[in-house]
Amino acid sequence: MIKILSNISQIISVDTYGKNLKRGKELNELEVLTNSSIVIENDIIKDIIPSASVKNYEADEIIDLKGKIILPGLVECHTHTAFAGSRANEFREKLSGISYEEIAKSGGGINSTVNAVRNASVEELVDLLSPRINYFISQGITTLEIKSGYGLDFQNEIKLLKVINYLNQKYPIDIVPTFLGAHTYPPEFKTNHDSYIRLLTDEMLPYISENKLAAFCDGFCEPTAFSADEIDNIFLKAKELGFNLRLHTDQFNSIGGIDTAVKYNALSVDHLEVISNKDIDKLCLTDIVCVLLPGVSFFLNHKYAPARELIDGNAVVALSTDYNPGSSNICELNLIMSMAALKMGMTVEETISAVTINAAKALNMNKFIGSIEIGKKADFAVFQTNDYADIIYNVGKNLNCMTIKNGEVIYIAD
Ligand code: NIG
Ligand code: FE
Repeated sequence: MIKILSNISQIISVDTYGKNLKRGKELNELEVLTNSSIVIENDIIKDIIPSASVKNYEADEIIDLKGKIILPGLVECHTHTAFAGSRANEFREKLSGISYEEIAKSGGGINSTVNAVRNASVEELVDLLSPRINYFISQGITTLEIKSGYGLDFQNEIKLLKVINYLNQKYPIDIVPTFLGAHTYPPEFKTNHDSYIRLLTDEMLPYISENKLAAFCDGFCEPTAFSADEIDNIFLKAKELGFNLRLHTDQFNSIGGIDTAVKYNALSVDHLEVISNKDIDKLCLTDIVCVLLPGVSFFLNHKYAPARELIDGNAVVALSTDYNPGSSNICELNLIMSMAALKMGMTVEETISAVTINAAKALNMNKFIGSIEIGKKADFAVFQTNDYADIIYNVGKNLNCMTIKNGEVIYIAD
């Protein structure tokens, strides 16, 4: 089956010339093609041809994009979409001056969502997550990572991962599960950290690996969650079992998480609002993706991660919503791109690289997705404009009008 996407005003290819990531200055180079059309064979990009030669091609279908622009399908690489309940009460507390960390210390925060998830059935979770996934698809997202991390015991972490895996089967996009059993200590292990770590390393990780419920293991390195040494213990076992590693670190405190992530060659370090210059230098020498989450800074009125220092230092930077009920109840990736530009000093081009190829790198899928290059998956987001800056300039407005996954149109805006 050959399809051609024609009449495109701009193809924003995010070409990496085979490198499959963008670091430092490269984030600013998007490679924009005009007068070109895309040939798809089944689910793969077969060719990019001059529009004048479309008529010479034997195609089964020609999709006329009517002068719109096309990007690689967007990659949302860090979400906590698998939650139940609401934390609107904590939102009120925050507005009255109580901090996110204070709320967490007094038993709220992540653990209040844990309570709601433990009380939710599989069916209830599927019903809660389904519209959230559709909303991501309507934004041009063709690959979506979803973490567990609100079960925090064997039964409920597995329940969440099974729900995420089920939704991956049900929806046309790729939904990538990440195991985040090391999100925080659940109430029953508050004073017995060693036992919880043993539950993670001796029971949950082996079961998840054996049943192929997740390929990534994530953790949260903070005084209210896990120390760098505790993360080290968890990563040691996870690595041995073949998991790819990711780490929430340097959100409020810098307590050694970066060194642990570098030691284990993690795929990504996420947050980095308070990262030190010394640690920036260390990351700039690696391929570890720095996943920045400006929605959290906005939502918690906290400082923004030093995107400029990281990019100018040659790091691989990605962006994500961190969609979750406590620190970023924001699921609009385009809004996050606008925040990155307006609040972290990223260029329009850098924000696009950060939600395509570099976000794909954070999921270890960058050889297959994240840019419009021959041989990659035919995953695209089509936008209702003839200038890609509009995507970011129109703050909070979704300009995506068509989502294409594996060569199939899966969403068209009304
Ligand atoms: O990425 N940092 C830890 N975890 C989430 C917040 C989760 C929550 O508050 O429910 C985050 O910000
Ligand atoms: Fe997160």
